[in-house]
Amino acid sequence: SKNIVIAIDGYSSCGKSTLAKALAKKLHYIYIDSGAMYRAVTLYFLRNRINLQDAQAVKEALDAVHLEFHSRDYQTHITLNEEEVSDEIRHMPVSELVSEVSAIKAVRTEMVKQQQRMGRSKNIVMDGRDIGTTVFPNAQLKIFMTADPKIRAERRFKELEAKGENITLEEVFENIAHRDYQDTTRLESPLIRAEDAVILDNTNLTEEQQLAFALDKITKLN
Ligand code: C5P
Repeated sequence: SKNIVIAIDGYSSCGKSTLAKALAKKLHYIYIDSGAMYRAVTLYFLRNRINLQDAQAVKEALDAVHLEFHSRDYQTHITLNEEEVSDEIRHMPVSELVSEVSAIKAVRTEMVKQQQRMGRSKNIVMDGRDIGTTVFPNAQLKIFMTADPKIRAERRFKELEAKGENITLEEVFENIAHRDYQDTTRLESPLIRAEDAVILDNTNLTEEQQLAFALDKITKLN
């Protein structure tokens, strides 16, 4: 039988990865955090001071980037040229540049190619911005997540604060608003709900309720 792909897209800090991980764990699927790939590329660009306007430099950088996921315990463990960067890619310098890097066509083409390869023969849950529209337009289940931006900022702020990041709620809110704007207005596969995606607004839902919603959709697949 054909492998199953669950695509979860939506705005920044909507809880996509929380739901995706819970689903993967419940169903014994592989979880792939596509945002981590754009973040790791961004980290490489930052460290190597790649000029985003320089197409040749961007191409060479992409050729020099080797990403790998190491799946343990349904968390994201990603290496950039063999170096574990899972924590560093969550820090603000990366968050502030990632939407600019991910708007570059050459970057998207390469990431989409790698993502499609990862979902070719395995049951996967992948979250991102263009999974249901571009990466896996034939995914059996597509969920489009959204939530009140203030609630999203508060949730993300608490997470970052707990990790000891020195940041204000306003900065987090600004970054989320900035990424939502960039991600929805870029030319290359902008964030948009796939026509056949179900909407999940989790402003007032617990994690358990979100998981139940998704599992219900899955049992109804045939
Ligand atoms: O999912 P996460 O918030 O970590 O993604 C970081 C950024 O990567 C997003 O704001 C977006 O600019 C980009 N991204 C993307 N396409 C994806 C996943 C992430 O453009 N499929």
